[in-house]
Amino acid sequence: MKILKEEFYRLLHPKVVFLLTSIGKDGRENVMSCAWASPASEEPPMVIVFVSKEHYTAELILETGEFAINIPTKKMEKTIWICGSKTGRKVDKFKEAGLKKIKAQKISAPLIDGCAGFIECKLVQTIDAGECYGFLSEVLLSTVNEELFKNGMWVENTIPMHLGGKKLVYFSDEKKDKHILK
Ligand SMILES: Cc1cc2nc3c(=O)[nH]c(=O)nc-3n(C[C@H](O)[C@H](O)[C@H](O)COP(=O)(O)O)c2cc1C
Repeated sequence: MKILKEEFYRLLHPKVVFLLTSIGKDGRENVMSCAWASPASEEPPMVIVFVSKEHYTAELILETGEFAINIPTKKMEKTIWICGSKTGRKVDKFKEAGLKKIKAQKISAPLIDGCAGFIECKLVQTIDAGECYGFLSEVLLSTVNEELFKNGMWVENTIPMHLGGKKLVYFSDEKKDKHILK
C-alpha cells in the first residue's frame, strides 16, 4: 500500500463543490469555491465548513459570522475555477465570473443567482483545525431547485463534485435500483 502525505484528504473525495459567499462588517462581499464541508447535526440543523485561515473568506466570516453555501450546476464550472483560484482581496470575483447576486432571506451575505441550492448559515463556533478554521454553523434556511432535487436527493449528473486538483466529476448510476442498502 502506498503511504499518502498531504494527499490523504483525497481519500474522502469526491465532495460536492459549493460557492461560499460571505460579507464583512462594512458590507464587503466575497465568494470562494469550497469543498470541505459536512452536515454536522440534524437537530438543530448544523453544518461545518473548513476555510484556510489565509483566505479573505475566513477574514469576512470572522467579522460577521454570516455566510451562504451556494451549490452550483454543471454550467458553472468556469465560475468554480475563477472563485477557487483568485482572492477577493484583489479581485471582485462576482464581476470577474459574471455572477448575479440575489438577496438572502436570513443573512446579509448575498446568494448567487442560478445555483441549484442554498444554505444560509450563522456561525456558532470557530474551531482551530490547523491551517483551516472549522466554522460550525447553524442552518437558518435551506432552499433548492426542485427540478434538480427529487425525493430528497440530487438528481444524478447535475451538481459538480471535486475529485482533486482541477478535476470535477459527476455521479450517474445506471444500475440505480441495484444499490439500495438492505
Ligand atoms: C474545487 C475547489 C475546492 C476548494 N475547496 C476549498 C476548501 O474546501 N477550503 C478552502 O479553504 N479552500 C478551498 N479552495 C481554495 C479557495 O477557493 C481559493 O484559495 C480561493 O482563492 C480563496 O479565495 P478568497 O481569498 O477570496 O477567500 C478550493 C478551490 C477549488 C478550485
